[in-house]
Amino acid sequence: MHEIMRMLKSLAQSSWWLLWILTFVKCKIPEIHVTCLFSEDCVLPCSFKPTGNFEISWYRQDVLLLNQSQQDGHQPHQPPRDQNAKMYLLQDQLSRGNASLHLSKCGIKARGRYKCLVNSTLGQQELFVITKVEAPIKMVTMKNNSNKEILCLSKDVFPAPRVQWFTLPKNNDLRPTTQMVANSEGLYSVQSKLNMSKDIVTYICTVNSTYGTQSWRCSLQERELTTEVGQHLSIPCNAPEKLQHFLLTWTFTRANEPTNILSYDSRTRQTINYWGGRAKLLQDQVQMGNGFLQLEHPMSQESTGTYTCTFSGFQSRHVVQTHVNVSSRAELQTALDPAGHSAESKLNMWPIAIVVAVVVVAAVAALLWYRKRRANQRPSGGRPAEEMEAQPMKTYKTPENLPVDNC
Ligand SMILES: *[C@@H]1O[C@H](CO)[C@@H](O)[C@H](O)[C@H]1NC(C)=O
Ligand SMILES: *[C@@H]1O[C@H](CO)[C@@H](O)[C@H](O)[C@H]1NC(C)=O
Ligand SMILES: *[C@@H]1O[C@H](CO)[C@@H](O)[C@H](O)[C@H]1NC(C)=O
Ligand SMILES: *[C@@H]1O[C@H](CO)[C@@H](O)[C@H](O)[C@H]1NC(C)=O
Ligand SMILES: *[C@@H]1O[C@H](CO)[C@@H](O)[C@H](O)[C@H]1NC(C)=O
Ligand SMILES: *[C@@H]1O[C@H](CO)[C@@H](O)[C@H](O)[C@H]1NC(C)=O
Ligand SMILES: *[C@@H]1O[C@H](CO)[C@@H](O)[C@H](O)[C@H]1NC(C)=O
Repeated sequence: MHEIMRMLKSLAQSSWWLLWILTFVKCKIPEIHVTCLFSEDCVLPCSFKPTGNFEISWYRQDVLLLNQSQQDGHQPHQPPRDQNAKMYLLQDQLSRGNASLHLSKCGIKARGRYKCLVNSTLGQQELFVITKVEAPIKMVTMKNNSNKEILCLSKDVFPAPRVQWFTLPKNNDLRPTTQMVANSEGLYSVQSKLNMSKDIVTYICTVNSTYGTQSWRCSLQERELTTEVGQHLSIPCNAPEKLQHFLLTWTFTRANEPTNILSYDSRTRQTINYWGGRAKLLQDQVQMGNGFLQLEHPMSQESTGTYTCTFSGFQSRHVVQTHVNVSSRAELQTALDPAGHSAESKLNMWPIAIVVAVVVVAAVAALLWYRKRRANQRPSGGRPAEEMEAQPMKTYKTPENLPVDNC
């Protein structure tokens, strides 16, 4: 008997819960998420069954934005749409049960929780639209400044993005300083700085959007190259992995004035060459991401400067700056040996040194042999006079201290 009562009780309890959950699900006000692009038009959806009389009201954070009513299919006092209005409903859509709210040229203040309320003969209907506004990352650039810092820059981004640094070789103790400054429209400018370090070859900066819609990756590599006047030069530059389509550009900078050398588009496989026959890429190599520049003319001192190779692809920018120094042979030699002796003359000293060493060893051996012979000739116990003279001050008290004749 008790068992049955308990079973009934628990059954009643579980069905009560089921009912409660069903009610909750049924009554749960639908929520829609919309991301609007900054300064573009945006539509917040809201649909209803258009029957008889109805009144539409839109709220943002519980503040009435606009309302409109319609009786018996007529549109009583339809105001002509103000072309400058920040928000409006489309009248022809309204009679079809589409009460979507149009926002024109969204600013960041347009974000928030909107409510569409439809009051009709069928009852009340509510819908929430959670609206975000995003100003996507359009560009990320990197450069080094004279303070031995690497900068990673972006601007007009909303919300504030996330910046992260990596280096090659890997360094886990990077301490970048990142600044985000909002302009009058609320868009952020990003500047992240990292101190340059001698043992780091490549600096990589990633900038991710807050909503995870974008992930930009930029890198900067600095190299030095010294060559001699009259030589031909090929400057290496490889695309990063996973770069599908890219635009490759080579520029030359001397005294802060950049000039284009050439550019290559991997989609069209076309090269635009501004330097004519003086520079070229290898067509079959460049398509695979091997973008080394071949300078066809003999190098002169005017070729000294910075050769910048840039691979740009989808949300990616990879820069290699090669500082090329073209020197005359004389300059190169003084650079190698500042004291003025050339490396060649150092090499020529070796045979002389060996001869000198052999002569010295032979002379010492001859001397030793001569002294031994003399020692063997003189009577035992006696000391040669010249040896006594060489050590006049020494007195020998103990047998251990007695000098042993080396000869
Ligand atoms: C809009 O709402 C206001 C305040 O609730 C009300 O006075 C007005 O009559 C409404 N207008 C329309 C067209 O429904
Ligand atoms: C409602 O109208 C908007 C334009 O105001 C349109 O973009 C949207 O697709 C329409 N929605 C439906 C369900 O017809
Ligand atoms: C909804 O409409 C009914 C009549 O259609 C009206 O009595 C009621 O006040 C309206 N409610 C709101 C919140 O507008
Ligand atoms: C960037 O760094 C290189 C050396 O790593 C230097 O030669 C060059 O002048 C730097 N650029 C600027 C703008 O300071
Ligand atoms: C970067 O270098 C500057 C100047 O050399 C120094 O004052 C600063 O502390 C360094 N920052 C970090 C994070 O090491
Ligand atoms: C940025 O996005 C990339 C790719 O989605 C991810 O691997 C990386 O961890 C993200 N970085 C941050 C700081 O969120
Ligand atoms: C170029 O190299 C020469 C010798 O190696 C050196 O004397 C000169 O200072 C270098 N010039 C530049 C701009 O680095």
